[in-house]
Order: sequence, then C-alpha cells, then structure tokens
Amino acid sequence: MKNYRNMVTELTLEEKASLCSGLDFWHLKGIERLNVPSIMMTDGPHGMKKQRPDANDHLGVFDSVPAICFPSAAGMASSWNREMLFEVGEALGEECVSEQVSVLLGPGVNIKRSPLCGRNFEYFSEDPFLASQLATEQVKGMQTHPIGASLKHFAVNNQEERRMTVDAQVDERTLREIYLAAFEGVVKEAQPATVMSSYNRVNGEYAAESERLLTTILRDEWGFKGAVVSDWGAVNYRVAALKAGLELDMPSNNGYSDTLIVSAVKNGELDEAVVDQAAERVLRLIEMTAPQTNPAQYNKEAHHKLARRVASESMILLKNDAGMLPLQKTENIVVLGELAEKPRYQGSGSSKINPTKIESLLDEMHKSAPDALIKYAAGYDMASDDLSETLIEEAITTAEKADKIILFVGLPDRFESEGYDRHHLRLPDNQLALIERITAIHENVIVLLSNGAPVEMPWEKDVQAIFEVYLGGQAMGGALSDLLYGDVNPSAKLAETFPIKLEDTPAYFNFPGENDVVTYNEGIFVGYRYYDMKAMNTLYPFGHGLSYTEFTYEKMTLSKKNITDKEMVDVEITVRNTGAVAGKEIVQLYVADVKSTVKRPLKELKGFEKIMLDPGEEKTITITLNNRSFSYYDTAIQDWHIESGEFEILVGRSSAQIELKETLTVNSTVLLPLKINRNTTIGDIMLDPRTSEIAKKHFNQSELASNIAKMDFTAETLELGPAMLKNMPLRGLINFSQGYFTEEKLATFLNQLNQV
Ligand code: BGC
Repeated sequence: MKNYRNMVTELTLEEKASLCSGLDFWHLKGIERLNVPSIMMTDGPHGMKKQRPDANDHLGVFDSVPAICFPSAAGMASSWNREMLFEVGEALGEECVSEQVSVLLGPGVNIKRSPLCGRNFEYFSEDPFLASQLATEQVKGMQTHPIGASLKHFAVNNQEERRMTVDAQVDERTLREIYLAAFEGVVKEAQPATVMSSYNRVNGEYAAESERLLTTILRDEWGFKGAVVSDWGAVNYRVAALKAGLELDMPSNNGYSDTLIVSAVKNGELDEAVVDQAAERVLRLIEMTAPQTNPAQYNKEAHHKLARRVASESMILLKNDAGMLPLQKTENIVVLGELAEKPRYQGSGSSKINPTKIESLLDEMHKSAPDALIKYAAGYDMASDDLSETLIEEAITTAEKADKIILFVGLPDRFESEGYDRHHLRLPDNQLALIERITAIHENVIVLLSNGAPVEMPWEKDVQAIFEVYLGGQAMGGALSDLLYGDVNPSAKLAETFPIKLEDTPAYFNFPGENDVVTYNEGIFVGYRYYDMKAMNTLYPFGHGLSYTEFTYEKMTLSKKNITDKEMVDVEITVRNTGAVAGKEIVQLYVADVKSTVKRPLKELKGFEKIMLDPGEEKTITITLNNRSFSYYDTAIQDWHIESGEFEILVGRSSAQIELKETLTVNSTVLLPLKINRNTTIGDIMLDPRTSEIAKKHFNQSELASNIAKMDFTAETLELGPAMLKNMPLRGLINFSQGYFTEEKLATFLNQLNQV
C-alpha cells in the first residue's frame, strides 16, 4: 500500500483544495504528478451500481455493470442475522474490488419514523439498536476488503418530501436515543471509511454544515477516523461545510468549490490547516481503497446463491392459519398477480442496480414441484391502478378447482421511491379489488406482499396466510419458492411495526411537516415504543414472524441480580424447538425501567440472537447487557445516565409476545448535578437523598414546615396538602412557614443545598 496520507506537505493549496470535491459524478480527483489515483464511488447499498463511463446521472439502471442485487435493507433487517449481513458485506466488497470500485455508498441507517417515507426500503428499522447491530456487520464485512463503506444519511433524514431543504426539528434526547444511536453504534464498532452527510437541516442547520454533527459528535465523541462525504449535491456553502468537517463535496461542480476554498484561504476567511486536514483525510481514503490493477473476478453464481439464501431469511411469514403453508409439492396451485411474473425485487431511485439475472417465482415453483399443476393469471396490471374486469374474470376462471391460491400483490415504483413519500398506506385499487373477488370465492388464499414498507391490510382476516416479501433482490423468486414449499423454514421477523391504519402511526400529525419545517413531536416514541406506550393494537407488532416449527422459551437466568452502572450482566436464555422440523428462532431481549423520573418507553430492544435448532433440540444462549442497555440520554449532563432502581429483563418472540421475565437492580454511581434555586420545588429536594436531610433539619425549625419533613412524597397518589407542597417552589416557604423562612434564611438554605 502506497503512503498517500503523508503527501499533504508536497501539495499546493490548489491541489489540496482539488481533493475536496469530485472529478465527475462518481470519481474523486487524483494528483497525477504524484501518481495519486482517482478513485471511484458507486451506489449502494444492496448491490454495486457501477455506472458505465458514459452515464452521467445517478438514476439510470441499465447503464451500470451487472452486479448481484441483494434484498433491500428492509428485508435484510428482517433476517436479524448478524453473520449473514457480514457475508453480504463481504460479497459486496469483493464485487467492488473486482470492478475497481473504492467506496460503496451504503448502508443507510436512518430510522423509519413514518411508514410513509418513500425510502424506507433502503433503511433497516424503526429501532436504532437493531439497525446499528446489522449495519455494523455489513460495514465490517465490506471493509474486510480494501474498500470503504459510506454510512448514510447523517443525520435525521427520515423523509423524502423537501429532503434537500427541510429542517428536522428534534429535541436532544430524541436525537441521541433514536436518530443518532444507529450511526453511533456503527461508527464506534466498525469505523466506516466514510460517513455521508444528509441533505436536510437539523435544528436549523444544514447537516453538511453542522460542526456539532460532523466534528463534535462524529469525531470528538464517537472517534470517527474516516472522511465525511456530502450526499450528492447536499453542500449549501462550501467553505462553511469544510469548516464544519465535511471533507468531500460530491459530485463534481467543475472545480467551482475548489476555487472558493482557495480564495477563502487567501483572504484569511479559512485557515489553511483546515484544508490540510481535509486533504489528508481524503488521501488516507485513497490510500486505503486504491483499486488493484488486475483484480480477481468474483464468482457470480456463488454470489447469486448467497442472494437467494439471504432472501429466504428476509421474508416474514406473518400469518399461517390452518397449516396453509408449506405447500405440498403435489398440490394444484393457482398463482395470481402480475408480480409473480414481473417481480419488483428492488426499490426505486439511486440504489437501483442492474442484476446479473432474475429468478421468477413461477419458474422456480415449477422447478421445486415439477409434478404439480401450477397455473397463472395476471389479475391486474402493475402499470395502472385501474381495475380491469377482463383480467379479474380471467383470474377467477383460472382459480377454479385450485387447491390453494397464491395472490401476489404489492406496491409499484410510482407509489414509493427515493425522491417522494407515500400519502397513504393502501395497495393499488385494482389489487384490492382482485383480493376481494378472489377471497369471496376461495377459502385457501395465501397472499405474498412485495413492498418496501408496510401497507394496510383491510383484507387480512379473509386470507389464510401472508408472506411479507419486501423487495427481495434478484433471487427473490427462488427464495420464495423455497419458503412456500418448505424447503427452507421461514425465520425472519419484522424490523418495523405494521400499523392497522395510517392514522395510528406515531408521526401522523407531523409528517412530512409544513413548508420547510418538520417537528418530531412524538419524541422518542417511535415505532413499538409508541404503540406500547399507547397500548394500541397493531396489525403485526415489531419483532413478529412465524416459522413452520414451534419454539418454547424454557428459562432465563441472570448472572447477577444487583449491579452498579459500571458492571455488565449476562443473561442466559434457553429455547427448545418443540416442533417437527428444524428452524431458526430470533430471541429478542427488551429492557424496561420499572420506575423513572424521565419518560421512558415501556421497553426497548437491547439484545437479540438468531439460533438454529433441530426438532427437539434445546440451546442456551448468552446475551450480555452493559450500562448502555439501561440508560437514557440525560440532557442536563449531556451524557447517558442510569437512574438507580429496578429493571425488568423481558425475553420473547416479538415485542408483543414476551415469554420470560426477570428483574434486576442497577445502582448508579453518577449523581446528576444539583442546580437548586428559589424556584426548585420542595418535592425535588425532598426526593433527592442528597438534599432531603438538610431540608428536613430546616423544616423542623418551624411547626408548619416540620410537617413537610414527615411527608412521604414517593407515594403514587398524594393527599391535597402534600401534593400542593410537592409542587411548591422553595420561595413559597417564605409565605407558608409561619415566618421561619425569611429571604435571608432562604438564601442560606439554598446555599447549603447547593453545597452537598
Ligand atoms: C442519494 C444517496 C446516493 C447518492 C448518489 C443521492 O441522491 O440520497 O443515497 O448515494 O444520491 O447516487
């Protein structure tokens, strides 16, 4: 590996500035005289979209070299399989090496705030822990090769509407616990070579110009060592962005931003040291990812097989009544729905890649069950929402005499895509009509759903089985056939909640905002955190997914029942396969703070493990919890904090099906700073062990106030007197202590309280 990073001292100001923006749509500039190569970046995230040299936008599909199309992140996340994400990362890295691509623009870990976001298919989850665990493995896998990942879109990019200008207004605690946490985990655990700053503003500042995000948090707090690249066209003012910590402005602006940098240095607006540092970081990226001259070619067939395995672990069996699935290989099946013939296997926008091949469901079903009678009718036209009586009639006739009907429905690109959000959660009208007409005449209907994000299912009760297929990549057809016929046992679970209706969703009142402002009023209550808190029914809860076998949760043991916030605890969980076939179960661990002074979700995912079990087999897994598992982000100390007390460890098969429960006590070693003034309430000082003793001493000096000393403010419900006193500011003591507290005495009292 050549050492480029130390070349900074040999570069002119103009050369250093030139490293800070693109050469063209996909390349960085090299420095020819010093043999520094020009490296290439490509999209991402679920495949390598290397555009041919003559292509000059980022949306074209067939102008990019063929590559393996893996399932999109919504599906891959549903696998909850860390090892598999690592394998996908490795495969993507290998493809990049062989195509001389240096940086693959992904993965995307933005939180699914609303199911309406048109780009949710590219993101992992509504839960930051799950998103960060899986993306970490993808990045680690990719970077086992000399290529770089690009963790995107940093940060708070949760909608497409006005994505380049919208100001996402989000409070600090929500920012840390929900929207930054997924990025934080990946940066700390996997050190992606680049982080891509998002288009939008965050609390008034463009993400690409936010020193707080790009330097204070990303580098100083999390220890990021790579380079920050802008989303394509995200830079508002180049010099401000560079100062904030954005090294690379993409794509090319024909050198315009380089001239801005040079003149800013010359006129004293910008310190040249900032340019030096940025150039060094870009050189380091080039050094780490410079393409090989004659790279080995990857095995396309092996990667396709991986894509099929990944797809089969990414599709969720949501419902399976009366053992409708798996199908018998002799059954007479009718497949309805144009999606069975023309699969929608990836989402729309910059991530669209050119697959090496595509498996169709029908072909693969014929291969899996060569003796079965499998008939097909389109039933609807994907290109339109309009109902075609001819297509429906044809579907009804074809469906006659079938043992079972497979109804393949889903969303077209025009409903969801990068660039725009949905306005509702419905399927196209012609598909809804087909479901209605078919379920009216047939009892054995299995629905397959292909979409990037949840849809409403008013027909859910009328069908016997449902598979959420998401956008399953190029091997989607084969993977589905494997699952339908039981050659592979389904093992995926939802990484997001499926609401009953749009009106139920947490961000319903505040999505996508008004004009250029969107307020995140639901705060930390995103996804299941919200539905839990409101005790709301959902269509399918976070973490839900069925298998063709049964699992019994037998026991849970904690290594310790009382720890300090500096200790870890091991949770051992034993699960048995009590069904007839081998299968994988995703064991989920949630933590609940039993009582807290700040509002906290009823429970939060803090651990999970996917385990393979043969029939009758039992396994014990260990999940280790650390202090982050119990903490919330405290804005007063600007740090993660645990409140001493009891926590419940809840283990189950979904967020709504908890099977095992244990309790432990965590003792905090950190005391939050006291900031007591005349408007601090009596309740606050009486409930804090540090101040209550001093307070009692003072109160005992006056007959009326001495009653306060005896009151139990911890009770759930208080009587009128204590309730009023609890909320009374200390200055009220002057009026209500029969003359004991004067202004002077109050001042001495406050002084003493502040010294503890
Ligand atoms: C997208 C990024 C993508 C980039 C390059 C942007 O519009 O938001 O995710 O990597 O284009 O295609």
